Order: sequence, then C-alpha cells, then structure tokens
Amino acid sequence: MRRIPLNDLDPWFQTVDGVIERDGRIDGARLFANDRPLEIDVGCGRGLFVFSASGARPNTNFLGIELDYKEARRAAKRLQKRAAGNARILGGDVFRAFEHIAPGSVEAIHVYFPDPWWKRRHRRRRVFTDRFADACAELIRPGGMLHSWTDVEEYFEVIRSLMDHHARFEALPPPEERPAENDMDYHTSFERKKRKLGMPIYRGQWRRRADV
Ligand SMILES: C[S@@+](CC[C@H](N)C(=O)[O-])C[C@H]1O[C@@H](n2cnc3c(N)ncnc32)[C@H](O)[C@@H]1O
Repeated sequence: MRRIPLNDLDPWFQTVDGVIERDGRIDGARLFANDRPLEIDVGCGRGLFVFSASGARPNTNFLGIELDYKEARRAAKRLQKRAAGNARILGGDVFRAFEHIAPGSVEAIHVYFPDPWWKRRHRRRRVFTDRFADACAELIRPGGMLHSWTDVEEYFEVIRSLMDHHARFEALPPPEERPAENDMDYHTSFERKKRKLGMPIYRGQWRRRADV
C-alpha cells in the first residue's frame, strides 16, 4: 500500500490515493484488517459522527471521507487519541474514492450537511446529485441504508426528490429529533451549530432495495 511519508496520524488519517491498491481497489477489509460491515461518512468534516458512531458500535467499521485535509486530520486526531480500531479518515474527493470501492460492499452511506453552494453558478459543485445517488446505489449492499440530513430546505427537497424517485431505493420514515444531553450529543458538528441557532433540520433515510 502506498502512503504519504511521515504521517503522524497513520493509520487514522490516510489519503484516498494512498489507499488505492495495485488492483485499483480501496479495500475496507484491508483498511481495517477485518471484514466487518463498512459505513461511510461523506464530507465528514471534524468527524463527530465517525467518532461517536465508532465508539457506540464497535462491530462496524466507519470511514470518513473529507476533501479538506485540515478538517480530515482534526477528525483523525480524535480517533488516534482513542486508538479507535474501527474508524479511519481519508483525505480526498468522495467521487474519486467511490470509483475504487467494490459494488455492494458498503452497509450504509451518511451525508450530513453537505455544502449548499448557494450561488446558482456554483450549484454544480454540490455533492448530492443524480450521479452521486447512482454511485451510492451501486456501492450500498441490498438492504443497506443511505442517511442524509441538512438545514437547507431547498437542498433537502432536491435530495428527497432524487432519492424518493430512485428505482433502487425506498424511503423510510425520517428519524425524529431528540434533545441533546450534552455538547457532544449531536449527530455532527454542523447539526450542533444549526440546532443551537434554532434552525430546523431536515432528515431523510432510504433503504437500498433488494430486488433491483
Ligand atoms: C458543511 S460541511 C459538513 C461537515 C459534517 N458532515 C458536519 O455535518 O458537521 C461539508 C463538508 O463536506 C466536505 N466536502 C465537500 N465536497 C466534498 C467532496 N467532493 N468529497 C469529500 N468531502 C467533501 C467539505 O470539505 C466540508 O467539510
């Protein structure tokens, strides 16, 4: 495996390109040295979700993918402190990573508070597009899940429309909001920030159909 040199956060922080194997695959079983179910957090930011979920569910592997290396390294540092064996952060572009992950090998994909790119001319930079939904349908195993939350109503409607009409997913009832018991008791850093501002959060979950 090729890795960046002198990586003080290895193996918690690695790059997408650094974990592509000679056969062109990013192999979850290789990354975690076991073949437990793999969940991916797209644009994981500072990694609160990966940190909390990997602590709460030790029999699942969590992989955060984050374009901003500074944020990705910050997320990895938290995991290093806890010596988390079931959580890793990859620095790089999710679309590049997805090209190298085996179809049907992912248990769940999480997309929390994706950048809204407010200006119309920047909209094409959004992560959640029909291409993204198709890539998720390819990677998630039949019966697996896609979760997406945001405070941006218009973006959520785009996501909901893409997912509700996608032939390979079925919509499930959205998860309900529950009161936070402490400052770490939020799904992600952005959820904490937006809820503290009193903003509504739109939540969706979809199951990958087993029959298509
Ligand atoms: C608004 S932040 C949300 C961070 C985190 N999910 C949360 O809820 O706190 C969106 C994150 O997605 C990352 N991002 C945007 N496009 C990406 C891409 N193509 N691949 C990986 N990460 C991406 C950004 O760098 C940013 O950290």
